[in-house]
Amino acid sequence: MAQPPTFETVPRHVAIVMDGNGRWARKRMMPRGVGHKAGVDALVSVVQASVDRGIEYLTVFAFSSENWKRPEEEVSGLMSLLLVAVAKHLTKLCADGVRIRIAGDLENVSPKIRDALLDAQAKTAANSRLTLTVAFNYGGRWDIVQACQKAMRDGLAAAQLDEAALSSYMTMAYAPDPDLLIRTGGEVRLSNFLLWQSAYAELYFSDCLWPDFDASQLDQALSTFAQRERRFGDVGESGQGAGALGGAVGSTDQPSGH
Ligand code: IPE
Ligand code: IPE
Ligand code: MG
Repeated sequence: MAQPPTFETVPRHVAIVMDGNGRWARKRMMPRGVGHKAGVDALVSVVQASVDRGIEYLTVFAFSSENWKRPEEEVSGLMSLLLVAVAKHLTKLCADGVRIRIAGDLENVSPKIRDALLDAQAKTAANSRLTLTVAFNYGGRWDIVQACQKAMRDGLAAAQLDEAALSSYMTMAYAPDPDLLIRTGGEVRLSNFLLWQSAYAELYFSDCLWPDFDASQLDQALSTFAQRERRFGDVGESGQGAGALGGAVGSTDQPSGH
């Protein structure tokens, strides 16, 4: 098997808005569900490529808190597909050292879906090669609100609720903030994904429809990322700032927030 390319800097955490499944299917005169199914295959290959390239955290937007607005038939198709995909791929993911974590509101989904997702989480809990977070029934605003609610339930005083404290209540407190946020499908917006965590993510928008996204598309994004200069508000390499540079984990003087 060919060796994956090496990059000067590999992001520790890549987040992806997997968009364009419906248009991919429509282009082929097929129902949108066919696009979603092809989207699962794309995800499987991108997970493998991420493992091979040493990415530690991969977070994918699978279903947003707003996607319930879609026709009933599409929503139920997506739910069935999720169950099938978990059943089909869990063993291999586990063998590859992938830890699955779910970010999103699982209280308001069907018990069948909740159980399958929590089961996948439990079965892979000991893995550490790549943490794959599936954002499901997730919204960035929901995440911020639930973090505030938990902090209030814990009795935090207003003065105690600083950025680090709030970060520790966010659903992905276990992960560093995303270094690179990719959106496929040509739209240039966040659609309520990781609003808090993406403050300093490098954004990469691709016209590629998600089912066509593969290891070489990922490599293009990684190569662009490696050329970006991350300044985190400092003056950068050409100035005299100490905290410049394109490190994947944020510069040394950037607070981790967790
Ligand atoms: C993204 O693809 C998958 C989900 C939102 C579940 P879309 O279904 O949004 O595809 P387009 O954007 O309509 O092409
Ligand atoms: C974002 O895509 C959500 C997921 C990829 C799961 P959407 O297709 O729902 O976003 P909008 O509606 O174009 O903003
Ligand atoms: Mg879309």
